[in-house]
Amino acid sequence: MAYETIIVAIEEGIATITLNRPEVLNALNSQVFEELADAAAKLGADDSVRAVIITGGDKVFAAGADIKGMASLSAVDVAASARPSMKAFNLLENMRKPVIAAVCGYALGGGCELTLAADVRIAAANAQFGLPEIKLGILPGGGGTQRLPRLIGAGKAKELIFSGDFISAEEALRIGLVNKVVPAEQLLPEAQKMARKFASRGAVALGLAKTCINEGLRMDLELGLQYEHKCFSLLFATEDQKEGMQAFIEKRKPTFRGK
Ligand code: CAA
Repeated sequence: MAYETIIVAIEEGIATITLNRPEVLNALNSQVFEELADAAAKLGADDSVRAVIITGGDKVFAAGADIKGMASLSAVDVAASARPSMKAFNLLENMRKPVIAAVCGYALGGGCELTLAADVRIAAANAQFGLPEIKLGILPGGGGTQRLPRLIGAGKAKELIFSGDFISAEEALRIGLVNKVVPAEQLLPEAQKMARKFASRGAVALGLAKTCINEGLRMDLELGLQYEHKCFSLLFATEDQKEGMQAFIEKRKPTFRGK
């Protein structure tokens, strides 16, 4: 698929997806969701890609779903159109490699929800987050009512969703919505540094750790602990586990091959 609304670049095992509709502040329409889903599926299946960064560039992350494209939709249209966004976000959330959202400027509505499908969020100091759907007479329909309370707790999530207010990068850091705030010019370098660090770890162990955390959030503690133990045991069948422990014993750096 040739992309028109996103740009995908791969360098030294790190893939960067850049949203590319600057004239509408990267508003997310069905074409963006379809292209994102296609890219996420391909990057997820490509073993040479070890980490993914998703960004909107140096001005804005995304101002939400495309309101002009949504305004006249019927309930039936929306029921059908939810699938591409859900597919794209789920593919990003479930791929067995780290996904880092690097956020400059506005991350609103579906844009904020896209960052919630990532594993880690890094914000430029000028970033603003919000779920303003309530002010449009709707609710967050890109996973916001589900992923946000799981990340920051129900109380804070309800305050954001009920008010529709925007919050600053610093406030987002304070409530645990983002992992780190950096000066705008440091945003991509910082995301790349983190991506390289993640990519240097054993890919199988990292992928399974991600799966354990994501699946565990859907289970009670006892089941989650059992699931973790199964994944932990499985890793003892990998070359990376032998290499990681042997390297420790030999006082050298491990060379992981993702096997
Ligand atoms: N959809 C469509 N177009 C959008 C858009 C959106 N979400 N956000 C901005 N644009 C367009 C504007 O209409 C404008 O286009 P024109 O020049 O043709 O008028 C252009 O982008 C620039 O925007 P502004 O002139 O409004 O820029 P600003 O700096 O004055 O304001 C803003 C920026 C505060 C982000 C404002 O644009 C805004 O409030 N945008 C909408 C935010 C929003 O409500 N997002 C939630 C969408 S619903 C959703 O996401 C549903 C879901 O859960 C999946």
